[in-house]
Amino acid sequence: MCGIVGYLGPSKAASVLVSELKCLEYRGYDSAGVAVIEGGRLKVLKAAGKLANLENLLKERAPEATVGIGHTRWATHGAPTDLNAHPHTDENGMVAVVHNGIIENFGELKDELIAKGYKFSSDTDTEVVAHLVSHYYGETKDMLKAVMKLVTRLKGIYALGIVNRDVANTIYAVNHHYSLTVGLGNHENFLASDSIAVRQYTNQTLRLDQSEIAVITPDTVKLYSFEGKESTRPPIVSESTRFVVDKGDYKHFLHKEIDEQPSVLRQTLAKYLPDINKPIAFHKPKSKGGNGNGHHVATHGIELTNSQIRELERVQVLACGTAYHAGMIGKYIIEELTGIPVDVEIASEIRGRKLLVNQRTLTVAVSQSGETADTLAAITEAKRIGSYVLGITNRPDSHLAQIVPNLIVTECGIEVSVAATKTYIAQLLSFYLLAIFLAEERGAIDAEKSRTLKKTLNLMPALQEAVLAQEPLIQEAAINYSSAVDMVFVGRGFNYPTALEGALKLKELSYIHASGYAAGELKHGPIAVLDEKVPVVAVVVPGVVYEKTLSNAQEAKARHAKMIAVAVEGDKEVEKLFDTVLRIPPIEEFFSPLLTVIPLQLFSYFVAEALGKDVDQPRNLAKSVTVE
Ligand code: M6R
Repeated sequence: MCGIVGYLGPSKAASVLVSELKCLEYRGYDSAGVAVIEGGRLKVLKAAGKLANLENLLKERAPEATVGIGHTRWATHGAPTDLNAHPHTDENGMVAVVHNGIIENFGELKDELIAKGYKFSSDTDTEVVAHLVSHYYGETKDMLKAVMKLVTRLKGIYALGIVNRDVANTIYAVNHHYSLTVGLGNHENFLASDSIAVRQYTNQTLRLDQSEIAVITPDTVKLYSFEGKESTRPPIVSESTRFVVDKGDYKHFLHKEIDEQPSVLRQTLAKYLPDINKPIAFHKPKSKGGNGNGHHVATHGIELTNSQIRELERVQVLACGTAYHAGMIGKYIIEELTGIPVDVEIASEIRGRKLLVNQRTLTVAVSQSGETADTLAAITEAKRIGSYVLGITNRPDSHLAQIVPNLIVTECGIEVSVAATKTYIAQLLSFYLLAIFLAEERGAIDAEKSRTLKKTLNLMPALQEAVLAQEPLIQEAAINYSSAVDMVFVGRGFNYPTALEGALKLKELSYIHASGYAAGELKHGPIAVLDEKVPVVAVVVPGVVYEKTLSNAQEAKARHAKMIAVAVEGDKEVEKLFDTVLRIPPIEEFFSPLLTVIPLQLFSYFVAEALGKDVDQPRNLAKSVTVE
């Protein structure tokens, strides 16, 4: 979704801004732009479409400026056009603004400004900010005061980068329940809504607090609360290596990330399950966290005591999209091992509803980006009510990681392709580990059972590799079915969410309509859509629902649907019923979701590839969904 960047220093701002924006491309966007201050004037260049269009403009006009802000926009208010692209300026070209989030009261503010004689040239909510801050600057002749007045008028959650041609060497950054990071360099400073964009230049960063203004020059960063109280804090010094956007030998990040799944499992297991004879390594060390210089850094681990865990009465999972599917499987796993009832909610469905959690609930937010607005709002509400809160993410630098005291950080790094694959597998693994951890703490499983479960988890990376080795057969099947216009995915029990995830992957990558159902639900309605033109994909793994899933598949077959199975090697039964069988190694039903999703990911990838789709950045989608 939208990305903000900024730069001040000795280098040419435009090229730094573009290289920062490149790091944010993976989040999804449909236009890009920059504003630089050159010779006391604002120069704004923006273009709909990919960053390459903006780069072409910059080649023609090559600004020399050393101060500027930039943006990648994911359209919310107004179509993705040149005009609606950020930065937006006031009529006099005094200030330029880039904006993430939504100004909820923009309609009201726009009417007020129009009544004052201001003219608008875009459909965006952002333009209101440009006119309003310029108006207050006209009144106060002090940009900081103007920004402070501005924030008293804005409703919603947002982040802003603002420049004023009168204050040429300064960027004003505003964060209101969003995400903004300042990167500290040597006589130069950087700004970005995702720290990975500044980490290519510096390992020293300041993350803006929830309602905070930063006044940034090449040599200074001053922080103010919205009420004007100045504060200081030391930077976070990161030791981890910087994020490099590199596809290696792969044509697409998606393919690379699917193939990385065994190593994601290995690394996350090495971190949280170093020894199968010992408990899962989730307990937080007794230190207060921090990075030694007083600033809070998200530290992973669970700080609940054994008695708090024993007294838990419920687990509530909150997530969106693919993370929600991981949570659905999490429910089955936790309930199976611990007996604790688990509810899973789509985080956006919590808006405007009563969240029924309490001091004996563990509320778990799952998010690869750690920035999903609905998930953050829901977990914040759970925390306010007094529930224990736990985050599962691969981004320890994310907003989610900052606001939860209990945190599982999966070892898969940043996922670049918009469609989630390796982060899903990492989230699933986290639920297996969490379930074993809770079961051990509550005495719900004995040492032998615990050891067996852990042993099987350790086998999973190699089993995943065996699935990945089936790639040529999966590719062939995908090409055969790529002309379908509609597909149905079914599964039961642990693999019902796998069916939902398979359908979501196919939809988002290939734009082929696909629906996922609990296989038993087919005859309650969805079966009406089946005929010879609608292929059905069924996940059929031996276990308690195996025969029943086969019966459901029979029902589909009887409607002349073309049948595809994800089934274990050696299963002869499926060959009688299915036209195409995608194989996984024999596996217990309980652990099977860690394998069954892989053929479905590859299938969707190769269908999209065959159709020539933009695999890594599907249309209309964003990696980080920071609006409600
Ligand atoms: O960053 P999050 O994990 O919170 O994102 C949630 C969903 O937006 C995300 O899983 C989305 O469904 C992906 N496009 C799935 O591939």
